[in-house]
Amino acid sequence: MSDAIAYERVGDVAVLIAQNPPVNALGLDVRAGLVAGIERAEADEGVRAVLIYGDGSTWFAGADIREFGKTPKEPYLPDVCNRIEACPLIVVSAMHGTALGGGFEIAMSTHYRIAVPKARMGLPEVHLGLIPGATGTQRLPRLTGVPAALDLVTSGRQINAKEALSLGVIDRIEEGTPRDIGLAYAQELLDAGAPRRAVSELPAPEPVDFDAAYDAALKKSRGQISPAYGVRAVQAACELPFAEGVAEERRLFLELMGTDQRQGMIHAFFSERAVGKLPELKGVEPRGIAAIGVIGGGTMGAGIATAALLSGLKVVMLEMTPEAAEAARGRITGNLGGALKRGKISQDTHDDMVNKALTLTTDYAGLSDVDLVIEAVFEDMGVKKQVFTQLDEHCKPGCVLASNTSYLDIDEIAACTKRPEDVIGLHFFSPAHVMKLLEVVVADKTAPDVVATGFALGKKLGKISVRAGVCDGFIGNRILKTYRTAADHMVLDGATPYQIDKALTDMGFAMGPFAVGDLAGLDIGWATRKRLAPHRDPRERVPTYIDKVCEAGNFGQKTGKGYYIYEAGKRAGVPNPEVLELIEAERAERGITPRDFSDDEIRRRYMAAMVNEGAKVLEEGIARRPLDIDMVFLFGYGFPRYHGGPMKWADLQGLPALLDDIRSYAKEDPYFWQPAPLLEQLVAEGRTFDDLNKDAA
Ligand code: 3HC
Ligand code: NAI
Repeated sequence: MSDAIAYERVGDVAVLIAQNPPVNALGLDVRAGLVAGIERAEADEGVRAVLIYGDGSTWFAGADIREFGKTPKEPYLPDVCNRIEACPLIVVSAMHGTALGGGFEIAMSTHYRIAVPKARMGLPEVHLGLIPGATGTQRLPRLTGVPAALDLVTSGRQINAKEALSLGVIDRIEEGTPRDIGLAYAQELLDAGAPRRAVSELPAPEPVDFDAAYDAALKKSRGQISPAYGVRAVQAACELPFAEGVAEERRLFLELMGTDQRQGMIHAFFSERAVGKLPELKGVEPRGIAAIGVIGGGTMGAGIATAALLSGLKVVMLEMTPEAAEAARGRITGNLGGALKRGKISQDTHDDMVNKALTLTTDYAGLSDVDLVIEAVFEDMGVKKQVFTQLDEHCKPGCVLASNTSYLDIDEIAACTKRPEDVIGLHFFSPAHVMKLLEVVVADKTAPDVVATGFALGKKLGKISVRAGVCDGFIGNRILKTYRTAADHMVLDGATPYQIDKALTDMGFAMGPFAVGDLAGLDIGWATRKRLAPHRDPRERVPTYIDKVCEAGNFGQKTGKGYYIYEAGKRAGVPNPEVLELIEAERAERGITPRDFSDDEIRRRYMAAMVNEGAKVLEEGIARRPLDIDMVFLFGYGFPRYHGGPMKWADLQGLPALLDDIRSYAKEDPYFWQPAPLLEQLVAEGRTFDDLNKDAA
């Protein structure tokens, strides 16, 4: 027996206990242990049933993802599942925690399934760029029918025990420990003379229109292929005998295992968990946070306050006037009303949040008790400094003073206080109660426990927190500025904003840069261009056509017109013909003869700009690791998860070809296209960005 599966005998029942913390992943030892346990039970005189359960916090949470990409070792998981089902004794699963992927497949291979009420189940493989590869796509539809199986396989969503019971996936729900409820259930089955039940022997499920389901899956996933593969695997369950269906599932699974999408998504899985682990914070205790202050209740302040209330914190909101404070309350209650409507909070909780946990004030004295303050006032250094001077005066010692600024220098803000060690940037994304990203911006003098507090707050609010250094725009907005410029250059040279947006949504982006501009509001960029115009380097190429759109009072979605025209009631816009005319006029004025851009060239230029700036951000220490940049883009900028993030995308494309591209673009415009020395160095050494992640681990 392997150490990962303990064997015990309780009366007529052999008990197999998974002991592979933290999540009982089905690594080699566990798989071998399960087979050995079944064999031992079969040989153990007097044993009539086998109970399987997991020690610790969960049932098996799936195959061991760290083994993916390596040569698989026997026994393979589908064989383990089939071996369990073939056992002549009654095999019972008692589930708690999360029965996911291979773990759920093991459960479906046993003859009876019981779970605690809080247990959750699912086949999340699509989120790893895969499909269930251990008989799940063949057994699940036999249990639930095809529509429910297609839903679970293609969405990867988890279901609770109640839904699992109603779908026929489990037989019973019982309060208790998995050991106790499992042993009682096994005994009850033995006493009742219950037969051995094999899911594989159930009749093949009724088919549906699989071609339509395949097309729907492809469309919904924006180019991610694994959900569509899942449809084909479930189809095999209807059309082939069980063993052949399993072989077809395995073929599809192995094909996906070889794809870049699988690599991108597994990179995302591990990076999401690594991003908050900073060596410098090991052993550093965060400061306690029970109440926070928020300064400014506009778009961002109201969103931040909402997120804090939803996580159980008390919030003191400070605005300039009682009217502005009431307007802030309106925004916050509007946001909380949305959470109530979606069933995320109860009416009582909602009322408590609005009436008890939220306090409004116009007086800094009201902030004397809070543990952390987040400033979200206008993006103006003078205003920010006034606010921080007041905070310094009124907040208690040890209170963390944070700014939500998008671009401004946190060192300069910190310098206007007498406690720069308590000052940090906490950069949320809009809408702040929805978007998952939080950039934790560490200034020169920020104390380590203040950084730890930023991360602890992020965790409490359910955010993915990424450490960033101080520069104009930190990680995300700084890189955004560069690739947005690359897109603007392509428009001047012959592409249209619509072609660029389409080329990028075809790559899986939620939106292209011009549609994003319309959503964010074109007035912000217009104001910045006017401010920067007198200081520009003459070599910079900045289009002016969109300023004319702004001059006419068109700022994008909020005014109904920008790059696109938005009809009332419709979220997606149609191209604005005036924009095309203005672009043509500007090209003529600049003496540019427009040329064609293929979609592929658009994507390569856009991504090259993103990755090149990313490499510079790394070189300067603004981001610590390539994976930090990847997570910023996945969680803050709608970057397609299945590419893993821009730096992972670059690795998968091959860095030498990317550098060649940048060098060739530099011949046209050496001012904009400066290859990042770090990228040149990696290419010279034959290394990748992922090697840098490993160096930092
Ligand atoms: N394999 C290897 N390691 C895993 C793992 C897995 N399946 N699941 C989790 N881990 C690791 C995490 O990386 C983390 O490691 P770290 O501490 O070194 O960072 C540790 O276990 C704890 O994980 P979390 O921090 O995520 O813990 P939570 O308690 O928040 O969540 C969980 C637990 C819900 C199980 C979550 O980890 C999860 O969703 N895991 C992935 C589940 C999954 O995708 N299973 C399917 C795998 S693919 C498969 O089974 C293929 C099959 O069909 C052939
Ligand atoms: P906003 O204009 O919607 O809100 C600003 C609020 O601050 C207003 O309600 C105003 O009354 C209040 N305010 C101004 N000066 C004040 C003062 N001295 N004391 C108290 N309240 C004051 O602005 P928005 O969009 O919420 O932005 C706020 C900050 O967040 C800015 O620094 C911005 O750069 C940053 N940010 C904005 C994002 C966005 O998408 N809007 C995203 C991330 C950061």
